[in-house]
Amino acid sequence: MAENNKTVLVSGGAGFIGSPLADAYLAAGYRVAIVDNLATGKRENINPGADFFEVSITDDALADVFDEIKPQIVNHHAAQASVRRSVDDPAFDADVNIIGSLKLLEQARKHDVKKFIFASTGGAIYGEQDYFPADEAHPHRPVSPYGAAKAAVEIYLGYYQEAYGLPFTALRYANVYGPRQDPHGEAGVVAIFSQKMIACDQPIINGDGEQTRDYVNVADVVAANMAATTSDFVGAINIGTGIETNVLELFALLKEVSGADCPVEHGPAKPGEQRRSVLEAALAGEKLGWAPGIELKAGLGETVEFFRA
Ligand SMILES: NC(=O)c1ccc[n+]([C@@H]2O[C@H](COP(=O)([O-])OP(=O)(O)OC[C@H]3O[C@@H](n4cnc5c(N)ncnc54)[C@H](O)[C@@H]3O)[C@@H](O)[C@H]2O)c1
Repeated sequence: MAENNKTVLVSGGAGFIGSPLADAYLAAGYRVAIVDNLATGKRENINPGADFFEVSITDDALADVFDEIKPQIVNHHAAQASVRRSVDDPAFDADVNIIGSLKLLEQARKHDVKKFIFASTGGAIYGEQDYFPADEAHPHRPVSPYGAAKAAVEIYLGYYQEAYGLPFTALRYANVYGPRQDPHGEAGVVAIFSQKMIACDQPIINGDGEQTRDYVNVADVVAANMAATTSDFVGAINIGTGIETNVLELFALLKEVSGADCPVEHGPAKPGEQRRSVLEAALAGEKLGWAPGIELKAGLGETVEFFRA
């Protein structure tokens, strides 16, 4: 194990992405504190090697955690991560995703944190794309309160960098998939299809199934976070594969890796659903030395095995 005296506070460390991320920091020798209110995260995901604080990022008790832990690094993954819920209740979304982020930023600057990493989003910030794949300069046209809140936090990050010299990296994820995935999250389709396919419970494809996404494996996303932690790069950076996969192709791959022979059923298209989304990840290669390593079919196989178990 690499020796490393640094303490990292991982918000959302009981969740789908935050929990394997906390595992990776521990494996690299960091001291890890997890702040999570278990809204969607699971206690069984929490690495016993981490200090766990069952606290909301919107709660004033967050200050006590910083006083006790004194982290050098904050890796912010806690969020209300459901696009649908953000549409139904934009104020709740803003409370967690904007106000909660500001509370973390205020603690970070007061405690002289050296690096702030933020789990942002590519697809939900860029909206319907003008060109494919979208690079970081693509216009921001969020089509949900969730995307608007993530874009707002990126602007605040710029302000904290300017005003207080707090270095940040905003990682704009594509659609993250893999074990422990919550079916209600941003890229829930893989978790939903995997579970339905295993049970042969009539998975339904919304609309024609030709809507595309860029599916990036959670292990690759964790690797991007580790690279960002030790990098001097300040700014926003896409974390995706540059490969567009439509729902029909995703379904066929899942069918192949699961061996399930379920009939496809089409339901009505979801109003307002984004048609195509794919991210250009060249900047991550240049600045973080990161590239996606896990091919979709292999990653889906592992995900299906996780849900089967
Ligand atoms: N999954 C994706 O495809 C994707 C894509 C882009 C961005 N993201 C972002 O990555 C991050 C992690 O998402 P995920 O997919 O792992 O979802 P998740 O729901 O599994 O993780 C979110 C975690 O935050 C915790 N949380 C929620 N509200 C909280 C609060 N008020 N205080 C403390 N903890 C709270 C939850 O309990 C959960 O453990 C989120 O910021 C999400 O917006 C995810």
